[in-house]
Amino acid sequence: FNKQQFQQDLLSWYYQHKRDLPWRQDQDPYKVWVSEIMLQQTKVDTVIPYFYRFIDKYPTVYDLAAADEQEVLKAWEGLGYYSRAKNLQTAVREVVASYGGVVPANPKELGSLKGIGPYTRGAILSIAYNQPEPAVDGNVMRVISRILKIEEDIAKVKTRNIIEKEVREIISKDDPASFNQAIMDLGSSICTPKAPACTFCPIQEHCRAYADGVQDELPIKSKA
Ligand code: ADE
Repeated sequence: FNKQQFQQDLLSWYYQHKRDLPWRQDQDPYKVWVSEIMLQQTKVDTVIPYFYRFIDKYPTVYDLAAADEQEVLKAWEGLGYYSRAKNLQTAVREVVASYGGVVPANPKELGSLKGIGPYTRGAILSIAYNQPEPAVDGNVMRVISRILKIEEDIAKVKTRNIIEKEVREIISKDDPASFNQAIMDLGSSICTPKAPACTFCPIQEHCRAYADGVQDELPIKSKA
């Protein structure tokens, strides 16, 4: 596995093909945060109009911190999983109260905010703060399991830890924000759960599952 070549092939594909998404206009940590919370249980196409409206209404942490909770829930209406909105507002108020309105760039502080688990923490640290941190969700687990031919049950916590460790090894230190989002885009467009489009894959030659013809069998996921 040639890490250098892998990173270069993945990143040049991303620079050419990356989706023009509203939360990719800048690296404002608050906007990255809002987008990642919305995207947790909701598809990209559904999130886009909600994201625009929400940021229009609450452009900064201060606006969201000061907002009426019922109003915030109304802005969230249709997205569902309302605890996401409540936790987001609670956490944003904490950012205003304890961190001078600046979203912490420190993993421990960031991870202690309400509603920010390992995935969201990694996404904010990498996408907004250019830190080489893994952001591993189900899509990333699938893509990484295939590239490195990891035959462990992705339903197990242990496997997630293995995959995070592997991402720490292979993530681009020059552009971790693009690296993580390239893996996400690859997972949604090419390295799909069923019938992955390996012939179009920019990193086909680096993929151990493809080399062994087992891309359709990975990842392994128990029903439990
Ligand atoms: N899904 C979750 N986070 C994403 C992001 N930053 N870009 C595209 N899809 C995503």
